[in-house]
Amino acid sequence: MTDQPILALHHASKSFGPVQALVDVSLELYGGEAHALLGENGAGKSTLVKILAGVHRADGGELLLEGQPRTFYNTAEARDAGIAIIYQEPTLFADLTVAENVLMGRQPLKSGGRIDRRAMLSTVGEILRDLGVPLDPARPVRGLSIADQQIVEIAKAPVLPGARADHGRTDRSPDRSGNRTALPRCPRPARPWGSRSVHHSPAGGSLCGMPALHNHA
Ligand SMILES: Nc1ncnc2c1ncn2[C@@H]1O[C@H](COP(=O)(O)OP(=O)(O)O)[C@@H](O)[C@H]1O
Ligand SMILES: [Mg+2]
Repeated sequence: MTDQPILALHHASKSFGPVQALVDVSLELYGGEAHALLGENGAGKSTLVKILAGVHRADGGELLLEGQPRTFYNTAEARDAGIAIIYQEPTLFADLTVAENVLMGRQPLKSGGRIDRRAMLSTVGEILRDLGVPLDPARPVRGLSIADQQIVEIAKAPVLPGARADHGRTDRSPDRSGNRTALPRCPRPARPWGSRSVHHSPAGGSLCGMPALHNHA
């Protein structure tokens, strides 16, 4: 755990024409943490995430990556900085294997330019082991549960250029079901939220730091 948030948004606002999607929203994300962002439809959750991911630019406020002010002009810039979004709907190729999906567009090549399938399977096998999920990288995606398809989406993130392999700080202790996992845990209770728009929800419980985003519209 570091004293400085890896990613922070301070006093961000965003309007779409007359619609104020975000007003003075602040959020700080530390290493190894998981947060849940709660709010009714239209509260601005997607807008907030899209600002972090370079889809939208905030009209005001500041985005800090490891303490440095940053502006992401597109998703590629955010991705290069190690920010990955896993969307609710998996976008996987059902007829391809788990490994082919994870490394889509960045398959390891042999010297002759052909795809190195063995390297692909071992790379993805390692990523899945690190994530603590017993998924066979050689199996096709077709037939996987939605939960496992989302794991495949998550597995894509560590292979992005610039991704933070924060293995040293993830909690690998067994979870409640006894599985070992390196998926982010919630190592401490949520801190109070300083902003007008993002509030700590007492319903957060012990699982996640759980801010709720209120709708100002
Ligand atoms: N691209 C857009 N153009 C116009 N209005 C938008 C756009 N994206 C979001 N909004 C509006 O901003 C508000 C917040 O939307 P959104 O961030 O999608 O909320 P949530 O994800 O919490 O449901 C809503 O009123 C929505 O209609
Ligand atoms: Mg949304």
